[in-house]
Amino acid sequence: KDYHEVHPEVTVLDPPNAIEHLNNRQSMLEEVADLNLSSFYEEVCTPRQLVIMKDPSSIPTAVAMAGLTLPLVAKPLVVDGTSKSHELSLAYDEASLPMLDPPLVLQEFVNHGGILFKVYIIGEAIQVVRRFSLPDVNTYDLLNNVGIYRLPRVSCAAASADHADLDPRIAELPPRPLLEKLGRELRGRLGLRLFNIDMIRELGANDRYYIIDINYFPGYGKMPGYEHIFTDFLQSLGQNKYQRCLSGG
Ligand SMILES: Nc1ncnc2c1ncn2[C@@H]1O[C@H](COP(=O)(O)OP(=O)(O)O)[C@@H](O)[C@H]1O
Ligand SMILES: [Mg+2]
Repeated sequence: KDYHEVHPEVTVLDPPNAIEHLNNRQSMLEEVADLNLSSFYEEVCTPRQLVIMKDPSSIPTAVAMAGLTLPLVAKPLVVDGTSKSHELSLAYDEASLPMLDPPLVLQEFVNHGGILFKVYIIGEAIQVVRRFSLPDVNTYDLLNNVGIYRLPRVSCAAASADHADLDPRIAELPPRPLLEKLGRELRGRLGLRLFNIDMIRELGANDRYYIIDINYFPGYGKMPGYEHIFTDFLQSLGQNKYQRCLSGG
């Protein structure tokens, strides 16, 4: 803000306070919960979740009172760029919940065929890719697994699934009109232009999508065709002079 006051000629792509909104796993999904994107064809929502600020011993009661169904994905509340803030755990049974380490968000695990859709937003442009994700949890796992399973940097390790041989019902990308609407709405509500959305489709409920994560300025290098999209984006801002620094990496 100070810099911009001194250098008004500099274009601020996204305001810092809007970016901060995405540094907390509770506030990042608030806008999605308020969106009304559900139509006759599809539903877009967020998994049911609960924030635990402190006192791990209170978690089982809090979970029961909120009516959350196990297994639960435990995610550190604050996303601050450290690898620790991406250390997730999967909790299978109630008795193990006090072993978790607040502050955190507890989110219902949604079976989704092990495939996640990463939706990249660059201004008006939208690009979606498939990534491998956590495998589904079945009744057998639920009965036989106890405890907390640590998932260090699960999202970082996720390989591209764009060329994998998948069941077409699982591989099918979310419909383009839905993504366009989602991108437009979130861009407006978040007041941001450069972000991505992690989205899964519930297994067996082919039209129900869950948004589980939104990140600011993701690694665009993994997105096919990003050079052209960025060039167009910068051109749309009238910032031709930046093209050189982009092509220079
Ligand atoms: N509610 C959920 N149901 C099923 N899988 C999930 C859920 N939340 C997260 N995951 C899996 O864990 C990965 C990491 O979770 P995410 O919320 O994206 O955290 P990160 O900040 O580490 O990217 C996701 O990419 C997905 O594979
Ligand atoms: Mg993620």
